[in-house]
Amino acid sequence: MGDSKPFLTDVQTLRKRARQHIERGAVTEGYPAHRETIVRVLNDALATEIVCVLRYRRHHFMASGINAQSVAQEFLQHATEEQMHADQIAARIVQLGGEPDFSPEGLLSRSHAEYVEGDSLVDMIKEDLVAERVAIDSYREIIAYVANDDPTTRRMLEGILAMEEEHADDLVSLLEELQA
Ligand SMILES: [Fe+2]
Ligand SMILES: [Fe+2]
Repeated sequence: MGDSKPFLTDVQTLRKRARQHIERGAVTEGYPAHRETIVRVLNDALATEIVCVLRYRRHHFMASGINAQSVAQEFLQHATEEQMHADQIAARIVQLGGEPDFSPEGLLSRSHAEYVEGDSLVDMIKEDLVAERVAIDSYREIIAYVANDDPTTRRMLEGILAMEEEHADDLVSLLEELQA
């Protein structure tokens, strides 16, 4: 390799580093210094998901009450998927040595998306669509921020982003059906 900068850390250094601070588990010496920032950003995403679970569940029960069963089912499915996202994010925060913030206090100010009840079925769908679009933009930004520093977190976020895009698509279809 001559004098050029080696692409990979040599085996001895890797092995030595792995033995240091083994109590940190998945967080190795090679993990970027801004771990705290990544944990904080993930906690904001966690708050967003929790707010989305609550909003979709409210919408599910309200839509059930006005006899809009297929829309009510869609809301419930989204609520379940947002809960899965929240769980994935919380688990990753712990893996990174942080603590997931489930405190109801300040939940709404930590969340990117809003909690809007909506008066009619169309209002509910529109509010959910706005929230999905907020989530899509914020996940895209977080993914760009994480970049190559933490591929595992990035892959998780990419999976979540893809599902938020599906949610937005579903909601547009529902709106079109209702307004046809
Ligand atoms: Fe989500
Ligand atoms: Fe979503």
